[in-house]
Amino acid sequence: MRVVLGPMSARDLDEVERIAGVSFAPPWTRAAFEGELGSPIARCSVARSAAEGESGEGPLVGFAVARLLGPEAELLSIASAPSVRRLGVGRALLVELLDDLDGRAVEACFLEVRAGNAPALALYESHGFARLDVRRAYYEDGEDALILVRRSTSAT
Ligand SMILES: CC(C)(COP(=O)(O)OP(=O)(O)OC[C@H]1O[C@@H](n2cnc3c(N)ncnc32)[C@H](O)[C@@H]1OP(=O)(O)O)[C@@H](O)C(=O)NCCC(=O)NCCS
Repeated sequence: MRVVLGPMSARDLDEVERIAGVSFAPPWTRAAFEGELGSPIARCSVARSAAEGESGEGPLVGFAVARLLGPEAELLSIASAPSVRRLGVGRALLVELLDDLDGRAVEACFLEVRAGNAPALALYESHGFARLDVRRAYYEDGEDALILVRRSTSAT
């Protein structure tokens, strides 16, 4: 599906919260999103649907939150609305983030993902992320966390 990507603003938070609420257990609180929005090192983006021939932007269909930490970055959260999954929204958000990181000469982007989250792992691994470490029983329900890293090809 065609999407318009842009920075997240406070006006987006109702829709962002709705998607987070049906995508994560437990989801981030509104205060957590507000904290990232107010942080100088955060990079928060949203995807809105853009139907063919439509002049404006449609509903919010996904978001991504990352932190920029000098030569490194961390992808903290990414989700697309369940009704539009597998239509390219997650990939669009990730590619836009990674292109921006490459433009800023960020050398490595880290993230943490549940070992059983096959959709997310497939998305990340198709964009250059590789497994760096496992945190055994990291989540409250006992599931392992995988730490993935994508190193910039231009980094020395
Ligand atoms: C992970 C997530 C963001 C993917 O978003 P999406 O909009 O469905 O992703 P896309 O349609 O752009 O898919 C891109 C690629 O991801 C992989 N993928 C996505 N969904 C998949 C699924 N259900 N099974 C296997 N691979 C999948 C595929 O490689 C896919 O490429 P392809 O469709 O060409 O095969 C989405 O499933 C989501 O919001 N999940 C809940 C929140 C979450 O787990 N976030 C990640 C936390 S670390």
